[in-house]
Amino acid sequence: MKQDLCLCLTLLLLVCISVSRSGRFQVVGPVDRVVAVAGEDVVLPCYLKPNISAEALVVRWFKQDVVRPVHLYANKRNNEDKQDASYVGRTQLFREELKAGNTSLKLFRVRVSDNGRYNCFVHDEPKNEYDDISIQLLVKAIGKQPVISIEGQREGGVGLLCESAGWYPQPELIWKDGEGHNLTAGPTETDRDSMDLFIVKQRLIAHKGTSKLTCRVLLQQFRQERDTEVHIPGESQPF
Ligand SMILES: *[C@@H]1O[C@H](CO)[C@@H](O)[C@H](O)[C@H]1NC(C)=O
Ligand SMILES: *[C@@H]1O[C@H](CO)[C@@H](O)[C@H](O)[C@H]1NC(C)=O
Ligand SMILES: *[C@@H]1O[C@H](CO)[C@@H](O)[C@H](O)[C@H]1NC(C)=O
Repeated sequence: MKQDLCLCLTLLLLVCISVSRSGRFQVVGPVDRVVAVAGEDVVLPCYLKPNISAEALVVRWFKQDVVRPVHLYANKRNNEDKQDASYVGRTQLFREELKAGNTSLKLFRVRVSDNGRYNCFVHDEPKNEYDDISIQLLVKAIGKQPVISIEGQREGGVGLLCESAGWYPQPELIWKDGEGHNLTAGPTETDRDSMDLFIVKQRLIAHKGTSKLTCRVLLQQFRQERDTEVHIPGESQPF
């Protein structure tokens, strides 16, 4: 009984020793989040400190909500057969940079679904030492200039529709009067296109006496906005 306990403790100790967060190297990355533009390429920075070679190590890039690796480098080669299908042909390590401990990942043709938290995991299998970091990737898409169309006479005013496509994440849509004040309009209708980008629409009834109106679509988080102005003809002129 006593011997069993002893063996157990010894085994536990061995397990603790054999897989350890590395003492020989540390995995480091960006302090801030990485922003990518949908459709463009991005580099997720990750490297070893000190800058020992990672050529003979295992470099595994994961995404939080994806089961299979986003990229797997093991046995001194990229293992595409183990990679998640949606990332095949879209990832790359910098082979020359691996020698200097640079395990950054290049991701090509960023998609909306790439948005999320990634993990850069580096493992020295023979020594059973590893370390990892997590990186937040924010995908953005700045949509098209809003388009305003006149829908005709409505409730004693003119019905206007403002529409803009190609945004990510979901933008806000606001109407402003000539003095720059926010106007109360109908609810914002939201849709997704085939690339999963947002399409937003909002209707407004412009009452007599308004001259200039602006439809603004904005992504507060990225301080991006697009405006379109419309001039309402005076009372004497027909619409
Ligand atoms: C590692 O970093 C040191 C100091 O910055 C530099 O002098 C050295 O060339 C680097 N080694 C490699 C293999 O890049
Ligand atoms: C890693 O390699 C990439 C591509 O060459 C480069 O842009 C990046 O600055 C490198 N990072 C470090 C820490 O050396
Ligand atoms: C107008 O609406 C925008 C977006 O919701 C908001 O950020 C801004 O503070 C509003 N301006 C005023 C004066 O209420």
